Amino acid sequence: MSSPTQLPAWQALAQHQQEMADVHMSELFADDAQRAESFQASAAGWSLDYSKNRASKHTLSLLQQLTEQAGMSAAIDGMFSGEHINNTEDRSVLHVALRASKAQQTLMVDGVNVLDEVRATLAQMEKFVAELHDGTWRGYSDKAITDVVSIGIGGSYLGPKVVTEALTPYQKDTIKVHFVANIDGSDITGKLKQLNPETTVFIVSSKSFGTLETLYNANAARAWFIDNGGPEQDVHKHFAAVSSNVDKAVNFGIAEENIFPMWDWVGGRYSLWSAIGLPIAVAVGMDNFYELLDGARAMDEHFKSAPYEQNLPVIMGALGVWYSNFHNAQTHALIPYDHYLRAMPAHIQQLDMESNGKSNLVDGSGVATDTGPVIWGGAGTNGQHAYHQLLHQGTRLIPVDFIAPLKSHNPVADHHAQLFANCLSQSQALMVGKSLAQAEQELRDAGASEAQVADIAPHKVIPGNRPSNTLLTEQLTPFTTGSLIALYEHRTFVQGTIWGINSFDQWGVELGKVLGTDIYNRLVTDSDNSQLDASTQALIAAFKQAHG
Ligand code: F6P
Repeated sequence: MSSPTQLPAWQALAQHQQEMADVHMSELFADDAQRAESFQASAAGWSLDYSKNRASKHTLSLLQQLTEQAGMSAAIDGMFSGEHINNTEDRSVLHVALRASKAQQTLMVDGVNVLDEVRATLAQMEKFVAELHDGTWRGYSDKAITDVVSIGIGGSYLGPKVVTEALTPYQKDTIKVHFVANIDGSDITGKLKQLNPETTVFIVSSKSFGTLETLYNANAARAWFIDNGGPEQDVHKHFAAVSSNVDKAVNFGIAEENIFPMWDWVGGRYSLWSAIGLPIAVAVGMDNFYELLDGARAMDEHFKSAPYEQNLPVIMGALGVWYSNFHNAQTHALIPYDHYLRAMPAHIQQLDMESNGKSNLVDGSGVATDTGPVIWGGAGTNGQHAYHQLLHQGTRLIPVDFIAPLKSHNPVADHHAQLFANCLSQSQALMVGKSLAQAEQELRDAGASEAQVADIAPHKVIPGNRPSNTLLTEQLTPFTTGSLIALYEHRTFVQGTIWGINSFDQWGVELGKVLGTDIYNRLVTDSDNSQLDASTQALIAAFKQAHG
């Protein structure tokens, strides 16, 4: 695998970047009356306006060439057909199989039809969800269940939590779903305070069933259940698990029939479509869960079949590479103008940063260029009163994705028009900025003296020419939530493919886990720490002192 920097299109883009360096987006609009229309694409309930980018038609054509030269078509075929594209773990990458069309009968992976397993699991989920909602599932004192607590972390938490929150208007009244992730005891303590052990079911979600935080929280939940009157022999009525490690889940005390499978061909951060999404299904019902899958599948079909110039994941992925590698953008912001999507940046952060935070090409040699940027963001309009200042006037170029539904689930007076207006005005302001002449004129119009104009006007200049995409949908539904998240999954894959990295392993998180175990042992035993660095020694001593 050679570096993408060797590709002819990469070199052409480097040259082209210099030609574009002084071109302002406003000029691009002035030169092309059709720009807004031609820099548009849509799929699976979303339309993308990418006209506010520092890109001409030639830029896009070069980016498409780069995508092709990087082997995108073969990579897509490889993923969808179950090739072991996760080479360091020798695994297929088949989250797309979790939402495959019912018409598709087979997808063989290493001699097994994975679609049979997917469908059997969906049937198991249907039964579980129905029994909880219709009250067939009873707790130890024969009461119906009112609360489900999902215990998991990382991909076994963020996707389910974000989607459950996104689908708040679709949540059923019968069961309330809660999430516990952090090993910090404050997380589970806060949740348990609201709950009654007689009417609570815990879902322990862990692909490995070996994740420290999840096991600690699961043990704490079981201890709370027993300490508050739950009989030991009825633990199985109050605990279910989602895991590919059935033995460990059984050893924990979960009845085998309450264990939902996971497979090594589904990465944690791509797993909300599997039984890891059980909390979503409990919250919104299986019908809505199926619509979520339908939305993701619609995006999969689009990704597989749309030409690059209309392909949302390809357009957004390639533009991201344009900014990361040719404009030195170090971060990328996601700003949903929708309260229910306020946590979405956290899920996309894990999805993208755990996937593309890599320094080696697939063959193990070092990369020659930057890979995944820092992904961050939060809900508009809140961010406008917090970090948007830096977007507008800071020294860094930060591409932004604005995400907005046209209709609100909660129309209150004209709040939604104001919300939407703010979304558009932010992308407009980022693009057009404010010149020195405009700033000076504003001050003069407000009656400022010439001395004041000279002093203040430079501070009011906003450079503009800052890029953004705007994604619109009619309304946030299970379908459009599914297609939106699948869009970002594929965008991540497009970028990883262009960079020539493996987006599906995560070796970097291991060292911290190993060192964490060592330090934990030093905190709880009398250990000789003298060979550790002085900072770590002092920090260990502070903890030991606090605990006598
Ligand atoms: O430590 C990182 C990680 O392995 C993520 O990739 C994963 O989503 C998370 O931990 C949780 O893993 P598990 O589902 O096995 O508990």
